[in-house]
Amino acid sequence: MRVFGSLRVPGDKSISHRALIFGALSEGETRVTDILQSADVHSTAGVLRALGVDVPPLSADFVMRGVGRRGLRRPSVDLDCGNSGTTTRLMAGVVAACPAPMRATFVGDASLSRRPMRRIARPLEAMGARVELPPHGGLPMNIHGAALRSVEWNSEVASAQVKSAVLLAALVSGVPARVIEPTRSRDHTERMLMARGARIEVSDTGVSLEGPSELTAMDAAVPGDPSSAAFFAALAALADSGQIRLERVCINETREGFLVCLRAMGATVIEEDRRLEGGEWVADVVVQAGGLRATTLTAAQVPAMVDEIPMLACLATRAEGETVITGAGELRVKESDRIAAVVANLRAIGADAEELHDGMRIRGSDAPLSGRVVTHGDHRLAMAFGILGAARGNSIEVDDRGCVAVSYPQFWTDLANAHTE
Ligand code: S3P
Repeated sequence: MRVFGSLRVPGDKSISHRALIFGALSEGETRVTDILQSADVHSTAGVLRALGVDVPPLSADFVMRGVGRRGLRRPSVDLDCGNSGTTTRLMAGVVAACPAPMRATFVGDASLSRRPMRRIARPLEAMGARVELPPHGGLPMNIHGAALRSVEWNSEVASAQVKSAVLLAALVSGVPARVIEPTRSRDHTERMLMARGARIEVSDTGVSLEGPSELTAMDAAVPGDPSSAAFFAALAALADSGQIRLERVCINETREGFLVCLRAMGATVIEEDRRLEGGEWVADVVVQAGGLRATTLTAAQVPAMVDEIPMLACLATRAEGETVITGAGELRVKESDRIAAVVANLRAIGADAEELHDGMRIRGSDAPLSGRVVTHGDHRLAMAFGILGAARGNSIEVDDRGCVAVSYPQFWTDLANAHTE
């Protein structure tokens, strides 16, 4: 397989959600450029509209008018978050902090409805909100908003969604908050808050919001998504010849883990023209074809590449030696149980893989891999196995190609255009 060309992957999903949420909570106009137009981001736009924010149809360049932190209205419909954990958890923080008569029910698809919400319910309740969950701790979730009190929250998991829920709740209530996490998670919320005038203190162990609470409206330019770029970086690393250039990718260090890992596996990854755009570091990333060796991944490395681990696991089938991933228990509560699903699929196509309670072990080989993989509607599984299927000798059928709409609607077209047999 030969790879070639330049590709501009779609806008970053995490930053796109936040551009809409911070646009809504600021007073005045926010111009948003290059937002990701995918199902998850449409979910956030829909939830904000249900709360009374005039979010125009998403396009490459649009202007929205915020309502300020006190301007959200009680919705007359359930808040449908689709497949999006980020929409649910971040907006739960916002809604919890809007005083009565605010009351809302968060619903989602079957996958989202199974995902754990106690991790946000607990800190929000500690701040004085009322959150009602079904016995399994997922959706539907009812939230009765209230004026909240300040909190210092020690999160058991490194999760930007938990951290952001608390920071947003504190912001909307106008109180300080501090969140401590085991390892630092992605920091887009902190960056966007700071850029809009909030006082944020960041240390190795945690982040504090100290006020003030009124945000200055500010344009948001969304950089390319490193989690989407990772698929094409992997395609290049798996290729027999050629290189791929990925333009304007966000290389924020809390998101850069996959590129760091690729380098450790022996791939050539060059970052060109590093620059700061809209408060985030971006670069053009060139990845060249070449042999790969196995690697190990432990808990401290997971947050910076938490969404890229299915791709790493697929790459490991083609790397020399045994790759061991541990400290990644969070994968069990993503859009699917990504430990069980990735390992079952790897085995189904003939790879040598085994499940660990908090990770997996994969032995690489040159043997062709073939068969059908079951995505469970999980976009990142569809894309990871789609990339592995493009490698020479492999023949992999993905049961649900359409689920890529969650984060990367044009994925299959971009894949077809980036390589030849
Ligand atoms: C996200 C945080 C991550 C990530 C998700 C997006 C965000 O989840 O997996 O795709 O935008 O904050 P956790 O923070 O729960 O690990």
